[in-house]
Amino acid sequence: MTICLGIESTAHTVGVGIFDSGKRKVLANERRTFPESGIHPRKAADFQSEEFEGVLNAALERAGVGVKDVDLIAFSQGPGLGACLRISCVAARALSLACGKPVIGVNHCVAHIEISKFMTRTKDPLVVYVSGGNTQIIVGQKEAKGLRYHVMGETLDTGLGNFLDVFAREIGERDARDIERLASQGRNFIPLPYTVKGMDLIFGGLLTGSIRKFKGGANKEDLCFSVQETSYSMLCEAAERALALTKKKELIVCGGVAQNKRLQAMLGKVAEDWGCRFGVAPNEFNGDNGAMIAYVGCLLGKRRAIPLEKCLPIQKFRTDAFLV
Ligand code: FE2
Repeated sequence: MTICLGIESTAHTVGVGIFDSGKRKVLANERRTFPESGIHPRKAADFQSEEFEGVLNAALERAGVGVKDVDLIAFSQGPGLGACLRISCVAARALSLACGKPVIGVNHCVAHIEISKFMTRTKDPLVVYVSGGNTQIIVGQKEAKGLRYHVMGETLDTGLGNFLDVFAREIGERDARDIERLASQGRNFIPLPYTVKGMDLIFGGLLTGSIRKFKGGANKEDLCFSVQETSYSMLCEAAERALALTKKKELIVCGGVAQNKRLQAMLGKVAEDWGCRFGVAPNEFNGDNGAMIAYVGCLLGKRRAIPLEKCLPIQKFRTDAFLV
């Protein structure tokens, strides 16, 4: 039985989660998010540094445990923004020194996948991982020493979330959530550039084409509707191709963009067409959070602890470079 405290700070969110492996339960999942639109790395890191203590105390209080009750400290080691990643590294080192508990570095993308598998009770799914910076089609493969996640397809330029955020700002809105809101009021589909190469995706052409349509006077609601339909269809095509190839019987979507209801519905339909079970975790566990880091800490256990001098950020930490 292990109680693990997980620290997340890869981008705009600072989070502390606590997972109890004996109870197989999330005891706490507290977080605060950088309030500005877009991420200025240094400003976001300053925000996380200022908020960390409050988030930590809130998580301990919610879980009803003290730092001395924690067996293990896990932190998000990458991928992410260097300045932000440094916050979780420093926090993990400081807590470890204060309470004498071992530290584990966790891959942020793998944590999204694992907490989603846990929440959806899936065992061997095809994973569609969509966030601001990442968009990947992933499968797990067993190796002698554990499970490794292989990226079958991914974005060749920007992540889906970043694409939606950039487009939102170009049309005078705040972020991707505004696109979802406006899209729900759109009715007429406007043809836009669509680029899928095998299981890889490119959003640059769609971004340029969508901005051009907006400047040409296209209705904002119809355009948002069309941007969503086009980009999500690209993702569905790649996922469908991966399902046809792997013959997986489960499909999950995870990461920040997985909270979008239209994307969930479209991928759910793909799963249905292929006789797969479809799963998505509650929103709380799709946005960046500390509970997913704590959960992976519990899966790995103390044997994967690293020396404090190795608690350093890995900005380009690949999903397939981390064994569970
Ligand atoms: Fe994330």
